Amino acid sequence: MIKVLFVCLGNICRSPLAEGIFKSLVAERKWNAVIAIDSAGTGDWHCGNPPDARARAVAQKHGLTLDSICRQVSENDFVEFDLILAMDAANVRELTRICPPAQRTKIHLIRDYDAELHRGKDVPDPYYGEMNGFEDVFQILERCSQNLLNHLIKTRLTP
Ligand code: 4NP
Repeated sequence: MIKVLFVCLGNICRSPLAEGIFKSLVAERKWNAVIAIDSAGTGDWHCGNPPDARARAVAQKHGLTLDSICRQVSENDFVEFDLILAMDAANVRELTRICPPAQRTKIHLIRDYDAELHRGKDVPDPYYGEMNGFEDVFQILERCSQNLLNHLIKTRLTP
């Protein structure tokens, strides 16, 4: 079993979209019995809430229903998850700050799985923007999800 955790600041926009998109792809390609997927935020402002209405709307437009409930990253996550994928450099910094040194190699930027041209970039925070920002985030995360799954299959799931 491989456990993947997506992390952003609020856990109501980007990481719930990443969770929903990756879960759908993993299920479609029938890897759901061996890949577990969750999301969390470095901040705690929205804990207990469903994703932002705009994130749910853009997901719905693409045929996905987001079912995550907001939670903050916990110490146990660094032990439990194999791969911790942050949406931006600020998330990486905060995760690295609170992560035990032995687990720090689990933390990566999700766009390290984007097309070569975009590696190392942030997934832009759409919270204070317009609806088209959510569509951009969806497109980025869809590309990263495909590459991430292909990478996991090749490096960890193929005997
Ligand atoms: P997210 O977006 O990190 O993609 O979930 C945000 C959500 C809430 C806030 C900031 C970013 N906030 O400041 O409340």
